[in-house]
Amino acid sequence: MKIAVLISGNGSNLQALLDSELRPHIVLVVSNREEAYGLKRAAEAGCPTQLHLRGDFETREAFDRQLAFLLREQQIDLIVLAGWMHILGEQYLSEAPGRTINLHPALPGRYPGLHAIQRAWEDKVEVAGCMVHEVILEVDAGQVLGVREVLLSDHRTLESLEAAVHRAEHELLVDVVSELVGGGLEQNELT
Ligand code: GRF
Repeated sequence: MKIAVLISGNGSNLQALLDSELRPHIVLVVSNREEAYGLKRAAEAGCPTQLHLRGDFETREAFDRQLAFLLREQQIDLIVLAGWMHILGEQYLSEAPGRTINLHPALPGRYPGLHAIQRAWEDKVEVAGCMVHEVILEVDAGQVLGVREVLLSDHRTLESLEAAVHRAEHELLVDVVSELVGGGLEQNELT
């Protein structure tokens, strides 16, 4: 099972994957930002990296198509979006190999888009959390593969809540990807 992880920034979730038993499966890290700290993490773990910059392409479609092409070329089975800050369009979804999953710091159906944890905090919801889901055209939606809840009552500051949600994300992502790898991706879409 070959896994590619797509990142744009810090890469703490990538680090959680690299530190887990999944390491041998992670054959590629793609970043759409040159300054992404996750690139350093990948290099330190001896994992091949590739920059895929929007500025190198005239259109979003061309960017998406080439991304799908490079993943297909490397025979990737599972693509993990871990802090990947680019909305993938139809071109990508129809041409990418295997399955693409995304990690989002909110519960299913809540707070799609940016600043999800802060929005949950400001709304004073009882329960925040994170989820991993299949990627579809709709942002931060799609079949849910795993969820972790975090109680707001356990936190007195937004910073504390954020740290807890991130810890939950690290665990959840490793668990969900391990399940998919263990099941050989099971149901569908092995190409
Ligand atoms: C995570 O909260 C993830 O859910 C969101 O972006 C953040 C990425 O963090 N999509 P990191 O780059 O993995 O540290």
